[in-house]
Amino acid sequence: MKPLTMRDFAPTDREPALRIWEDAFLGDNAEPSEEWFSLPGARLFVWEQGGEVCATARIHDFQASRGEARLQCGGLAVVAVALPLRRTGVGAQVVRDCLAWMRAEGCPLSSLYAFREAWYRSLGYEVCGRRWKVSVPAGRLPAVEGGLPIREASPEEWSLLEPCHAAWVRRYCGMNPRTEQRWKKVLAPSGKPHSVLVAGEPAQAYVVLRSTAEFSGEQAITEAVWETPEGYRAFLEILAKVGMNRSKVSWHEPPDLPYLAEHFDTDVEVSLSRPVMFRANDVPGALRALHPDGDGEFTVEVVDEVIPENRGPWAVRYKPGEVEVSPAKAAEIVLDIRAFSQALLGQPSLRELARAGRAASSSARALEAAAALMPESHVYCLEFF
Ligand SMILES: CC(C)(COP(=O)(O)OP(=O)(O)OC[C@H]1O[C@@H](n2cnc3c(N)ncnc32)[C@H](O)[C@@H]1OP(=O)(O)O)[C@@H](O)C(=O)NCCC(=O)NCCS
Repeated sequence: MKPLTMRDFAPTDREPALRIWEDAFLGDNAEPSEEWFSLPGARLFVWEQGGEVCATARIHDFQASRGEARLQCGGLAVVAVALPLRRTGVGAQVVRDCLAWMRAEGCPLSSLYAFREAWYRSLGYEVCGRRWKVSVPAGRLPAVEGGLPIREASPEEWSLLEPCHAAWVRRYCGMNPRTEQRWKKVLAPSGKPHSVLVAGEPAQAYVVLRSTAEFSGEQAITEAVWETPEGYRAFLEILAKVGMNRSKVSWHEPPDLPYLAEHFDTDVEVSLSRPVMFRANDVPGALRALHPDGDGEFTVEVVDEVIPENRGPWAVRYKPGEVEVSPAKAAEIVLDIRAFSQALLGQPSLRELARAGRAASSSARALEAAAALMPESHVYCLEFF
């Protein structure tokens, strides 16, 4: 493969970038919004080969929650290669360059939604947690009286939703605490406001949707968050209202999937939908960013063909609020970067990975200490990017 150079997108790259995106995402008569070229809170890069722009990628400046800790997390998107150069190794190099850039920026974690999970798996990413899509024929939606006042809010009132969202940042690992900028992007993408419904004062649930133009078609909910059981009942009440003139309503639920636990019925479909993938770019950096509440120590080796610096072995010592990582001579626990990234976030957990033979341990004490630092958790990411 001829040498590739990565650089920031410049206004003169618009035409070649658009050409690449037409083939990859947009089709040839699309008019992409300005956000494609300039998105606050994200950085767009291009790659040149022989003086021609041949690939693009965007890195969002996100965080991922992990208990009390917030890990810097680069959300990778619009990875695309010019059609003639595909399958020549350019795409893999683009991802490797992005990982190196994130490491240099002190960002120990990366996340993405894959076009093919297997391709990103070969670059060290792995599916973490579960994103369930629930799809219910409108006539099967449960009739629930929520008991909370429901009202419409405007995207400018995003701060009303914030405490509810913040509860999920604490409850699930992998959640991005939102900035005002990000709220605006979610509630009014490209400046076009979605409908926002809020239940309770203060909010115990909210629902974001863009009404489908198709009368009596399926209505997808863009985002739904509930903080309390009352909030979940109010969410169901909102769904019943939305379903009045639709054939089906669909939405996403986090791994604990309350709908299945209480409301499953004939013709309800539940499927795994676009699960988020995570990857640790910097193993010691990611471990140091954790926020333990007890103490312990263990040694670990992380096999990573793309970023060999991650291997170690590492001696990890932790006490409340602090993790020290230093080079070690040998490791009690050995796992690859995909399994490590899952254990780091907590689903599947380190104990599950060990049971499945994906983490080898020569010491039950070390495994306990590592599992206490990276406890089992539900992993969920509300951002779509
Ligand atoms: C997806 C894309 C970025 C990949 O880039 P690329 O330069 O074509 O890919 P690479 O040459 O680096 O990698 C291809 C290699 O990956 C490997 N590969 C392909 N599919 C794979 C899979 N499912 N699992 C593991 N490895 C796979 C193969 O070895 C393949 O090599 P081969 O052509 O010799 O068989 C590019 O094809 C593209 O722009 N597609 C359209 C846009 C898109 O889907 N972007 C992703 C958005 S998340």
